[in-house]
Amino acid sequence: MAEIVQRKPVKLSTLKKLYEAKEPIVMITGYDATFARIEDEAGTDMILVGDSLGMTMQGNSTTLPVSIEDMAYHTACVAKGNKTAFIVTDMPFGSYLVNEDEGVANAVELMKAGAHMVKMEGGLEVCPLVKRLRTMGIPVCGHVGFTPQSVNAIGGYFVQGRTQSGEEKLLAEAHALEEAGASVIVFEMVPAAVAKKVTAELHIPTIGIGAGPDCSGQVLVLQDVLGIYGRAPKFAKNFMVGASSIQEALKNYVQAVKSRAFPTADHSF
Ligand code: KIV
Repeated sequence: MAEIVQRKPVKLSTLKKLYEAKEPIVMITGYDATFARIEDEAGTDMILVGDSLGMTMQGNSTTLPVSIEDMAYHTACVAKGNKTAFIVTDMPFGSYLVNEDEGVANAVELMKAGAHMVKMEGGLEVCPLVKRLRTMGIPVCGHVGFTPQSVNAIGGYFVQGRTQSGEEKLLAEAHALEEAGASVIVFEMVPAAVAKKVTAELHIPTIGIGAGPDCSGQVLVLQDVLGIYGRAPKFAKNFMVGASSIQEALKNYVQAVKSRAFPTADHSF
C-alpha cells in the first residue's frame, strides 16, 4: 500500500512561516474531491479552486460564464476530498465588482462552502472590498498581471507589465493590495524581472504563474501539470512525462517547485 505522509493542516500562519523561511509555496488548481485528495497527499500547500474550471471542467473558451453557484459547488467537492491543504476559491466574473455588498455576500457563500480564502482579480478597484472582507475575518488573495476575467478588455492572452508604465501599474496595484489587507497575491504572465522586484518589495507571499522563478511560490492549472488540456502555455510543464502515475506526477510537481527546479527561464517571460 502506498505510504501516505500525515501532516498538519496548512493555515495562514503556515504560509507565513514558509514565506519567512523562503521555502517556495506550492499551489495547484483542484476542482473535485478525488483530485483534491491526491493533490493534498502529494504535499501541495494550497489548492486553488480556480474559475479556470469554466474552461477545464465546463469546456468554455473563457472563465467568464462561471457562476458563484459553480464555485461554491466545486469548493464543497474539494473540501470533502482535502484534509490538510489550504483552499483558496476564486470569486468569478461579475460576483464582486458590481456592488460591494454583493461581493461580501458571495465571499461568505464561498467560505461557507469550505474555502479558507477567496481570490479576486484586479488592483485598486478591489481594495475597498479586500479591506471589508478582512474586517470580517475572510482572508483574501489578490490576482494581478494578466487577469483572465478581463481577457476581452486586454484583447488576448498577453504578458502584462512589459512597459515602464505597465511595470509601475503592477507595483502600485501590488502595494495597494497589501495595504488593503491581502494575504497573498497571484502574479500571472508578467516578466520574471518585474515579479522578482515586486516580491522583494512586498511583505506578503507572491505566487507566480508565468512570472519567473523568484516569486514566493508557484501555481499551475492541474490539467497543464498533467498535460491534458490541449496546447499548453509556455509557462506550464507536463509532469506526466517520466511519471508512472498521476500521483507521481503531482509529487514531482510539488518537489520541482519546492527545490526551485521549476520554473526555469524556459517557462518565464
Ligand atoms: O483560475 C485559475 O486557475 C487561476 C490561476 C490561473 C492562477 O486563477
